[in-house]
Order: sequence, then C-alpha cells, then structure tokens
Amino acid sequence: EKQGFRHYMLKEIYEQPGVIRAGLASYVSDAGWVNLGLTPDFLKGIDRVQILACGTSWHAGLVGKYLLEQVANIPTSVQYASEYRYAPPPVIPNTLVIGVTQSGETADTLAALELAKSRGDRCLGITNRTESSISRIADQILDTQAGIEIGVAATKTFVAQLLIFYLLTLELGINQQSISEAKAQNLIEGLRQLPAQIERILESQERYIEQLAHTFAHTKDFIYLGRGINFPIALEGSLKLKEISYIHAEGYPAGEMKHGPIALLDQDMPVVAIATPGTVYEKVLSNAQEARAREAQLIGVAPIDDPVAVDTFDHLLPIPVVDEILSPILTVIPLQLLAYHIAAHKGLDVDQPRNLAKSVTVE
Ligand code: F6R
Repeated sequence: EKQGFRHYMLKEIYEQPGVIRAGLASYVSDAGWVNLGLTPDFLKGIDRVQILACGTSWHAGLVGKYLLEQVANIPTSVQYASEYRYAPPPVIPNTLVIGVTQSGETADTLAALELAKSRGDRCLGITNRTESSISRIADQILDTQAGIEIGVAATKTFVAQLLIFYLLTLELGINQQSISEAKAQNLIEGLRQLPAQIERILESQERYIEQLAHTFAHTKDFIYLGRGINFPIALEGSLKLKEISYIHAEGYPAGEMKHGPIALLDQDMPVVAIATPGTVYEKVLSNAQEARAREAQLIGVAPIDDPVAVDTFDHLLPIPVVDEILSPILTVIPLQLLAYHIAAHKGLDVDQPRNLAKSVTVE
C-alpha cells in the first residue's frame, strides 16, 4: 500500500504533482477556462468572503485571503472556526462563507459553518471527502480530489486546497471583472507548470534534506519566517515540524521578528526563511541577515541562482523562480520534507503522531 515508501506521509508528499494535475484537469478546460461547477447564481453579488477552518486548512485559508484580496480585490477575513463559533463578527450582507476541512468532519468547522448558515450567509464547503458531514451543512461543495490521505499530517490535501483557492479566485475575479482575461490566462499557465516544478524539487532535494535532518534532529526550537503570501507557509512549515517531530517551532511574519522573537536568537535557534522574488524578497533576505548576525543557523527556501541568497543562507533549499503569487505551492514542499525527515530520522511514528487524530470530531 505504501508503494515502496517508508511512510504514507512520504508517499503523499510525492503524490502532490498528480494532485495538482488532476485538479487542473477537472476544473480547467484545455483553453484555460475555470469552471468549478458551482451554480452561476451562487457566485453572484459577493462583496466579501469569510473563511473558517482549523489547523492546516486554516493556513490554506490564509493563502486564500491573500489571493482573493490581492488578485481578485475581494475583501476577505479568515478566522479559526473555534473562535468564530463563540465570537462571530457582525453580519455583513453579501458575505460568502467558506468552510475548509479536508476530513469534512472537524467539529469546530462544522459548528462555525452551521452558525454562519443560521445567520443567513451563503456557505461553501471545500473538502476532500464529499460524502462527509460538511456536505449536509454547506449550500455547495468543492471537492479537492486529492484522494484519501492516510498520514495524520496533512500534505497533499493542503496543496489541493491551495489549488481550489487559486481557481476560486480566478472564477470570482473574472465574474466580478477584477481580473483581466490575460492575467487569468497567465496564472493558469503558471499553475500548469507547477506539477513538473514540484517533481524537480522532490528529485533534486530529498537527499540533501535527509542529510540536513541529521544535523537538526536534536534541535529543540525552530523559527520559521515568511512574508506576504508565504507567511502562511511559514506557519504551515512550523506546524508540520511540531506535529510529527515534536520539536517546538514558531512561524512569524518576517517583519515581526524584531518585535520580540529576535530576543530568542542564538546559535541554538535555527531560522528557516522563505525568500521568493517579488514584493518582499529583499526584506526577507535582510530579516534573515539580521538573524545571522545573532549567530542563528539559517535555512533558506530561496532561488538558487541568486548569489545574495546563496551567500545569506547556511543551507539552501532551492526553488525555481515563479510568479510570487504561485510560490506557496512550491515553497511548502521542502518544508514538508524537512519535517518528515527529521521525524523519520528520530524514529518517530510519522503517520500516527502522538495525541493527534486524522479527524477531530470533538470540540
Ligand atoms: C495538520 C493537521 C491538522 C488539521 C486540522 C483540520 O497537519 O492535520 O491541523 O489540518 O485538524 O482538519 P480538517 O482539515 O480535516 O478540518
């Protein structure tokens, strides 16, 4: 069943190019038109989006907010479902509420969506299990089509959720005429390149990351830095590490480092920085250099062909240069591998980490 992989998690990491290919084949025509199969009325007259989720799905929602606001110009909020349940914001008409849950059974997400529905909001569910409970609550459902995920730590379902957010942003943006056709075609073209780019990252980096895992297996704490659309990936990288390797890790927006976490930095606190060319590239590199000045070991997820990046980081996990909007689907890959190999090196039960379950059906 594991098809030669040592753990399901690693198998599922390797399934990600196929997951993106399958999602594109289902939802995008050869000519590059997005059709998510939602009824036309459902996407009309939306002034605002509210995303509700937990854990890794919440991180996908944070990337979704960035896309909906920065690409389609639609005001978007993201809240933990467990917080929204007991303190929902005032009702705003024409809000589309999106519940994101790979299992479709997370108690807090279901309750939050039920509350939104009772307040009169239209509700969309994004799930990997269309037969699950969320389908009873949401008005419409989007299937992430990642196939069953067995490893408790979400990997392929996360990139599948990201893909849905790209496509939903395109569909809404085109409906609302906030995205030009040319821009949409450009993004679709970029999405189509991703599977091969993920494959290249997996092929070229796994061995190196496995070695790196030896170096860091006994580290007690990590800090992950990202900015803009890659801030959620810093959160996701640190969550993966915590969940399966039991190493304490914190994700921060890189610009916040100097407002507190910098006090933690020394030679025993490695920093993982995600630096991708675009609006905040130089800023993240300079945040990383500040960390180096405090003797932190630096691991960089960054392009290999930039001498400044090569010079800044002690350990470079290279990714190809792409439009920064598309970069999260690539930057998360080396971080999944890093968490996986550290946990595997420590001999831990990667697929069934302690105290965690694949679906959290209690509050
Ligand atoms: C992370 C992880 C959890 C889940 C969270 C939400 O690897 O597995 O953080 O993401 O429990 O689960 P779903 O998406 O099923 O609602």
